[in-house]
This record gives sequence, structure tokens and C-alpha cells, in this order.
Amino acid sequence: MIKQAIIPLAGLGTRLLPLTSVFAKELLPINGKPGIEYILDECIDAGVNEIIFIISKKKEMIKKYFNNDSFYKSIIKKKKDPRLIKEYKKILFYKKRIKFVYQNKPLGTGDAVLKTKKYIKDKYFLMLLPDDLIINKNCSKDMIKVHNKYKGSVIASMKVKRNNVDRWGIYSISKNFDKLNFKISDVIEKPNAKDAPSNNAVIGRYILPKKIFDYLKSQKKGKGDEIHITDAIRRMISNQNLFIGHKFKGNYLDCGSMNGYINSGIKISKL
Ligand code: G1P
Repeated sequence: MIKQAIIPLAGLGTRLLPLTSVFAKELLPINGKPGIEYILDECIDAGVNEIIFIISKKKEMIKKYFNNDSFYKSIIKKKKDPRLIKEYKKILFYKKRIKFVYQNKPLGTGDAVLKTKKYIKDKYFLMLLPDDLIINKNCSKDMIKVHNKYKGSVIASMKVKRNNVDRWGIYSISKNFDKLNFKISDVIEKPNAKDAPSNNAVIGRYILPKKIFDYLKSQKKGKGDEIHITDAIRRMISNQNLFIGHKFKGNYLDCGSMNGYINSGIKISKL
């Protein structure tokens, strides 16, 4: 059973400047709804009941957004607007499920994951990267089914253009379990096209084992001088831990870049 999810939110969002110069990118609206709410809805719908947000002092706006129920309450008292009542209930619903931890130095996704160590209770947990929206199918839900069936860690995956591999974690496959699920034999963070073992990219949904914290504690900095979750996964794979690549069925939207962000709003408005 996967009951906890973590969401790294301490990133600066430089690819979305100037929108992010004073604003958290995860609160930017996508078709009238903050991007983070799509991510929350996905994991809650997949059965997760506790979500750990990794924020930084610079991203406290996110905490404020989800802790603002008394503000709604005071307005509703004066103005009984059904839309506001609905929003108030929604914020309260999210608030009950969210915990906050801090990563004040931008040391990478691996370091962000390590900050959640003392809160993770079960053997496996889910991680969602908020730049990656997947629509039309609940990717987390499908990955939990894969995890329950094959009893290993799972990573969402999709094929990307060969000339674009240096934007992603790229992995190689040693065997196919079925049409959509593969055993991963190696993974490299943002390789050059000539070093990439394939064009199978890691997308931001992971079912990770609690054991990964032991690896993260000793994980050295990698690409861009950051601690990468990919590098810890790589070491776990070389120690015979099972990681499955799951080719998800939904449609991927990249909300972390300006073109992708604009396009996401257009795509979602047409659903
Ligand atoms: C992160 C991971 C990378 C993965 C990507 C998916 O990169 O490090 O392995 O392919 O997310 O979006 P980032 O987007 O933080 O550069």
C-alpha cells in the first residue's frame, strides 16, 4: 500500500522567469487552477492520504496558500458565495493531508528527498515532480498497481527525441515484464547524446523504497553540482534492487518551461 507522497517544491523556477521572480511556479494557474492542485488531485485519487511538501523559506507562499482556510471562513461569513464555500472546503481538504519540510539550499532532488526521511513510515512512498503534469489517465494510480504486482520500485517513463536526452534521466532496459513495464538495468542523469544508453526518459513520478535514504546519505554530488535522485537509484540498481520503468498511458505536459507552461493551459482548457 502506498499511502504517502512527497513533492519537492523548493526549486527556484528560473525557466519560468519573469513569472517566478516573486511567485511560486507551482501556484501559477493552469486553466484557472494552480498547477500543484492537479498534482495533489492525482495522488489523492491514487489513494495517498499524506503528502509531504518540501519547500524553502523563499517558497513559503505555498504554505500560506494551503493554510489560508481562516481567511476564506471570514469572507464566507459575510458573503455566502457557493463558489467560495467550495474553494474553502477544498483548501481544508488539502490542508488536512499536507505536511511541510524545508530544504533551504538548492542542493538537488536527492537532497530534497532526504529531508523527508523521518516522516516516511512505510517501505515504499510516491514522489511527484510538480513540473510534470500527466493528464487523461492517473499515472500514480497505474504505477501503484505495477508496484503491487511486481513488488519493486517504479519510475514513469516516456520516449524522448534523441537530440534532447540531456534534459532527462535516461535509462536502459534489461527485460520486458509486459507491454508497458520494463526492468531497468541502468540510469544516467542528463547524459550527452553520445553517452545515452537509449532515449527512454524518466518522467517525474517515482515509487521509491525507504531504503533509498541510506543511499542518499552517502550520495555524492553529480551533474551541475547537485545531489540527484537518479544517481542514488543507479547505485541501488547496481546492488540488485528492482526498478521498473512504466510507460504511462496519459499525456505528458511539461509545465516547467515557458512554452510548455503556456501549452499546458491550452491543452487542459480543451479537455
Ligand atoms: C528531474 C530528474 C530527471 C527527470 C526529470 C523529469 O530533472 O532529475 O532525471 O528526467 O526530472 O522531469 P529536472 O526536471 O529537475 O531537471
